[in-house]
Amino acid sequence: MADQDLTIEEILLRCRQVDGQGGAVADVSVESEEAPAEAAAPAEPVAAPAAIDPSKMSVADMLAAARASASGESAAAPKAAAAAPAKSAPAAKPAVPAAPKQESVAQTGPRDTASILAAARKGMQRGPQRVEDAVKTAEEAGEKPAAKKAVELPPAPRREDFLPPKPAPVASEATGRRGFFASTVGVLFGAPLAVGFTSMAITSLLWVLGLARFMFPNVLTEPPTKFKVGFPDSYAPGQVEAKYKAQFGVWVVRFEYEGESQIYALKSVCTHLGCTPNWLEGEQKFKCPCHGSVFYKDGINFEGPAPRPLERYAIRLSDDGQLEVDKSTKFNEELGQWADSNSYVSV
Ligand code: FES
Repeated sequence: MADQDLTIEEILLRCRQVDGQGGAVADVSVESEEAPAEAAAPAEPVAAPAAIDPSKMSVADMLAAARASASGESAAAPKAAAAAPAKSAPAAKPAVPAAPKQESVAQTGPRDTASILAAARKGMQRGPQRVEDAVKTAEEAGEKPAAKKAVELPPAPRREDFLPPKPAPVASEATGRRGFFASTVGVLFGAPLAVGFTSMAITSLLWVLGLARFMFPNVLTEPPTKFKVGFPDSYAPGQVEAKYKAQFGVWVVRFEYEGESQIYALKSVCTHLGCTPNWLEGEQKFKCPCHGSVFYKDGINFEGPAPRPLERYAIRLSDDGQLEVDKSTKFNEELGQWADSNSYVSV
């Protein structure tokens, strides 16, 4: 049995055994035999403590008795206890040995409870305090220590188990009114404001773009004034080539003028009000769609309001043998300029 499991009674018994005094009760009984020399009736007070049940004694009483028995002064205490009841009323209160014991305890001096317990535990072997010591002791004794049981750890708690539940959205009446008010204000004022700000932003952007465009000069891209229209042999006699009309505003014609076979370039602009006549291959004439002016293949006007013949551009043979038209120079028939060799190429 471990020391910590000893009861008070066992401790006292150990104390008595260690000191070999036989206990306070015995001492009291022994001393009671010597009491008749001093008192007339000491037997009853002495026998009274011996009849006390140890289980009913207080701890202080037990410790006092143990100290008295250990110090060998237990004889004085019963004497005082026996003398006191002899003078007063020993038969009335025989079970009051506590007061003499307290006096004897005060006379024992330095012997305290710890020293008494140490004396009681003297000679006892202290048990192992740690598991390693117990195992070592068992091994030394030839015993097989009990195998360690595998510790089964409980599953670790999840973090979700400790999170507070999310509150469900509560659609109260006040919230509904506020939502309705906010939506109404948004419709009445938000949309017009948004439209206004958007329009202002777009207008500002257009102003910026216009200003940026104003900072750059206008560039007029016109077709070159000189361009080549092929070799003279590629034109058949009497042919009117209209493929340069759309891009350069020119008809290239191989025809006879004043008995000379020429290749010349007619300006595709009516001399009346500036409309663009069409070449009618079936009728072999140029006809203006605006007022009906009609021109021959050589450009001479013969019907309609056009006051004068079509104009010619300068044409020449380039270094590579191709015909080159120069729109920077014009020749008018009424001025006699068609006689200029720069207004045609003889073929
Ligand atoms: Fe050609 Fe008037 S513009 S006829």
